[in-house]
Amino acid sequence: MSSKNIESHLVEKRVFKPSRDFSKKARIGSMAEYQKLWEESIAKPDKFWAREASELLWQQKWSKVLEWKEPFAKWFVGGHLNVSENCLDRHLGTPRQNKAAILWEGEPGEKRTLTYQQLHREVCRFANVLKAHKVKKGERVIIYMPMVPEAAIAMLACARIGATHSVVFGGFSAEAIRDRISDSQAVLVITCDGGYRRGSVVPLKKNVDDALKGDAQTVRGVIAFKRTGQETHMEQGRDTWWHDEMAKVDANCPAIPLDSEHPLFVLYTSGSTGKPKGILHTTGGYLVGAYMTTKYVFDLRDEDVYWCTADIGWVTGHSYIVYGPLANGATILMYEGAPNWPENDRFWKIIEDYRVTIFYTAPTAIRAFIRWGDQWVKKHDLSSLRLLGSVGEPINPEAWMWYHNVIGGGRCPIVDTWWQTETGAIMITSLPGAVPTKPGSAALPFFGVDAVVVDDNGDEVGPNVGGKLVIRKPWPSMLRTIHGDKPRYKKTYWAEVKGAYFAGDGARRDKDGYFWIVGRIDDVLNVAGHRIGTSEVESALVSHAVVAEAAVVGRPDDLKGQAVVCFVTLKQDVTATEQLREDLKKHVRHVIGPVATPDEIRFADALPKTRSGKIMRRLLKQVAAGVTVTGDTSSLEDLSILAKLAAKED
Ligand code: PRX
Repeated sequence: MSSKNIESHLVEKRVFKPSRDFSKKARIGSMAEYQKLWEESIAKPDKFWAREASELLWQQKWSKVLEWKEPFAKWFVGGHLNVSENCLDRHLGTPRQNKAAILWEGEPGEKRTLTYQQLHREVCRFANVLKAHKVKKGERVIIYMPMVPEAAIAMLACARIGATHSVVFGGFSAEAIRDRISDSQAVLVITCDGGYRRGSVVPLKKNVDDALKGDAQTVRGVIAFKRTGQETHMEQGRDTWWHDEMAKVDANCPAIPLDSEHPLFVLYTSGSTGKPKGILHTTGGYLVGAYMTTKYVFDLRDEDVYWCTADIGWVTGHSYIVYGPLANGATILMYEGAPNWPENDRFWKIIEDYRVTIFYTAPTAIRAFIRWGDQWVKKHDLSSLRLLGSVGEPINPEAWMWYHNVIGGGRCPIVDTWWQTETGAIMITSLPGAVPTKPGSAALPFFGVDAVVVDDNGDEVGPNVGGKLVIRKPWPSMLRTIHGDKPRYKKTYWAEVKGAYFAGDGARRDKDGYFWIVGRIDDVLNVAGHRIGTSEVESALVSHAVVAEAAVVGRPDDLKGQAVVCFVTLKQDVTATEQLREDLKKHVRHVIGPVATPDEIRFADALPKTRSGKIMRRLLKQVAAGVTVTGDTSSLEDLSILAKLAAKED
């Protein structure tokens, strides 16, 4: 976030109270009620969580709510349940049985509806396909698919038999898939021939083929769903079509009881080292978190049409497209493609067509909508909307106001939800019927969340003082570890501040206790709501034959939040050319994927380093932002480097 935004936060004084009408119908209808429940959740967590967890279906009840040996947690110890059963079977034999679970629209315009009964049937059949492929409980399955219902079906089918899924976002490259296969030791890959994006076909299966060249040898098979129908290579003895597989199995597949701590999924995310971390979530605690945050934060009703625009490849897609809403028996809308295809009003058209009531999207998308202009919104009737949500990055107050006025017609509460892949579920948010909102603030901690802002010594800071955002108590949907790397889990999250989980974000609290998230304070960028590790981009750059050294920093960007700026020094005798700049951008896309494409590559003779050889990113950030370099430069080895960098006209 730019310093301008931080300043505008400090002067932001507007407060929006929930409407009386909304509060009257809401589950949590007043601030007093929120406070009472929050206090109970902190003072008597066992009682609080046991009550919430009892709303789910357990095949065997837990004997203990929490076993905490910092930093390792076990929730609902001894309990057995199945996530797929909670999302599907639980609604059969109730009036929800024939209710739409998924309303799907493809980018070219096709429409499909799957009722809970139909979704259950598809999931059972695909679970039998997994069994036919001898996928065992605990084995990992990679899902690399576009936004088609089959992606959710594959996830739920894994959960049904206790296989651990790892969804890889469709915007990642073959190399990124290969890394994830190798780290997770996956046995099966589920993909599509292709997916539609802005009118063209993304060749997903081809990326999988490329990923499997070389040494991803744990993979026994690839199942491809036919989506786009283009010519697709199928490797004999390894690859099969989804429809052929489904034709061979029946729809009888009881959900198996799984231990509450059984791994449900591993989701890779960027950290401050070059290697993405496999964030591990387990069964009972995660589901309780996803279920009850969805229930309270979105105040979901059976009549709602709920649309979260995230991709299933990110944690938001896991918790708030699939697991949370389905566990609540909601009707979810799923859209395959881009918001500006065929024109800039596609989202508004969808909201009008399906009478969407709850809309959950990201600030970067909101800023793009603003740029495209109100006329696209005005063409459509958005009066069905009753609640709006924001996630993924700090929302600037201007974008918040536009969202409120233009999309919400001034009548819809906005929930600005702060959370992370690691937290599994929403942690800081307003509750729409209870908590007044302030544009740009994520508001207050959710139930059970003991969030505070601390200084470098770990001491809590006073109102309006910036510091590190930490969580002092375990919560049910917290990550359990980094897949295969407990020491890294401990070091990354639980070593920075004694006795607390460090989120990697900076924040301040105002005098009302509201959180104002500043953004990442580690070496992680947030580009258009996507997490990108600077060191991941750096290692991609130095893997190019001509690059000697690279340092990557973020630059404030009006649309994307942050832009990726790379400082690159070249090997001797290599000339910096425009072509090389383009080649390096392409190279990063190839190694990581389009999500990490550099916005700017600046060639440098040398990078600013301390005497001990550490790159001084703080200075590079200032150079990238075009501001005068300030602060302590006394440890800089060669001052002339800075002058040269700042003078560079690229
Ligand atoms: O910096 C915070 C930002 O996104 C990071 C988490 O990214 P990821 O694990 O990819 O999950 C994104 C979706 C939950 C956080 O460390 N972030 C997320 N939501 C917000 C936010 N920053 C400010 N306000 C938010 N509402």
